[in-house]
Amino acid sequence: MSIPRRTLLGILGGSAIALPVLGAAASWAGRGTDTRGKVSFERRIHAPPLAPSRVDAQGQRVFDLTIAAGRTEFTPGRPSTTWGVNGGHLGPTLRAARGEKVRMNVSNALDEATSLHWHGMHLPPSMDGGPHQMIEPGTTWSPSWTVHQQAATLWYHPHPHGRTAPHVYRGLAGMFLIDDDAAPPELPHTYGVDDIPLIVQDRRLPGGVLDPDEPTAGTTGLLGDRILVNGTLGPYLDITTRRVRLRILNGSNARVFRFHFADRRAFELVATDGGLLPAPRATDQVQLAPGERAEIVVTLTPGERVVLCSTDPDTGAGFVQRDGGADRFDVLQLRAAATLAPSPRLPERLAEAPRLPAHTAVDQRVFELAEHTINGRRMSADRIDLTVRKDTTEIWEVRTGDGTLHSFHVHDVQFQVLTVNGSTPPAHLAGWKDTVLLPPGTSMRLIMRFADYADANSPYMYHCHMLYHEDQGMMGQFMVLEPGQRPNPPSAHHAAHH
Ligand code: C2O
Ligand code: CU
Ligand code: CU
Repeated sequence: MSIPRRTLLGILGGSAIALPVLGAAASWAGRGTDTRGKVSFERRIHAPPLAPSRVDAQGQRVFDLTIAAGRTEFTPGRPSTTWGVNGGHLGPTLRAARGEKVRMNVSNALDEATSLHWHGMHLPPSMDGGPHQMIEPGTTWSPSWTVHQQAATLWYHPHPHGRTAPHVYRGLAGMFLIDDDAAPPELPHTYGVDDIPLIVQDRRLPGGVLDPDEPTAGTTGLLGDRILVNGTLGPYLDITTRRVRLRILNGSNARVFRFHFADRRAFELVATDGGLLPAPRATDQVQLAPGERAEIVVTLTPGERVVLCSTDPDTGAGFVQRDGGADRFDVLQLRAAATLAPSPRLPERLAEAPRLPAHTAVDQRVFELAEHTINGRRMSADRIDLTVRKDTTEIWEVRTGDGTLHSFHVHDVQFQVLTVNGSTPPAHLAGWKDTVLLPPGTSMRLIMRFADYADANSPYMYHCHMLYHEDQGMMGQFMVLEPGQRPNPPSAHHAAHH
């Protein structure tokens, strides 16, 4: 409710009875931030450049990335101090093909330590870029691995213990696209033309300027009232083809979006976090929690303009809307050219759809997220919370235990959702996922296979991806081990295998 109290008193003539009644009605009705119809889409959207790379003598595709502070004008004439990768804000799009060997040279030109994590990537834990691979100021970290996964929209962001929220908020994030020859050629795939990355982030810009420290508010962290897409405030996107593929990343710290077009037109959902769905799925909305991705294909008519919005995401708070559940935003305007180049029809099948059968799971574990803990414990760098055996499949049941909004993200693997509150998951959870939203009262059974990369010295992380919660310690560590192998970190005696 943003009407100043004095105005309300004026409207109500100071009535002692009407004021509390109106106050209560306002919170039931849940009027939140509403920017629909109020955004003037005046700026062409920034297109993150494709990062240059080279292939070295060992056949590795090498990327040079430098993290540094810069200045960014979200509003003309009002520069903010921001952080970026190879630039002042956000980072370039990395692109590699399935089967390729990649090497990242990540240099830290900030004056504090950070890290860079490849969210959604299946890779050895020592290359993961979590809190165990900190990059000190003035140093370079050079992980390398082979890409062993299908076409997908992944992303990268810092992961320093207790500091992830401010580091992401200042602008450290970028896309990491995996290409795969098995992906159908009918999918729009010309980067920046009919295949467009959209990094959607909410921010607060008092006086047009970004406050570098994420101000904490609400139960999940910061909820901003301005929306940036690829770092552009009030963006429009010129479209020149009949169909366009939008790769949408919710790069926010805490905000959940439920995206749809202003005219509620149908579009095709073609991919979730870990890659293509078995088949395109027609829908008119897609909800994304922080860290989640969706690829959609939209059809346009020549000359039209249509706005991508977000309205009333399901944050599960019921009729008392909080955590942004009543907020409505105009996000991005699509501007179709007067003539549009033809685009092929989408195929009926997009990808193989092998299901991980529940009976192959060797272990079932329960993760209860409550009060900034998972199973009652906060993250501790010298405690390995669990170990899994390499080449096995497990079922992880995740649930909320405190009536607030959480999510759950697992490093290293892409998982499948077996059940949501005991029932078959909705169609948008039918594909590969690495992050899921858990509104209050939700429990989900996730199935995942730990195929490779046993390492007794390096853990992977699992955590709530509400970054304020993560920083508060809503995170744990697991190790993938060979049969009979024991964890070897500083406090190995804390390890528990059950
Ligand atoms: Cu996107 Cu452990 O993070
Ligand atoms: Cu991750
Ligand atoms: Cu949480």
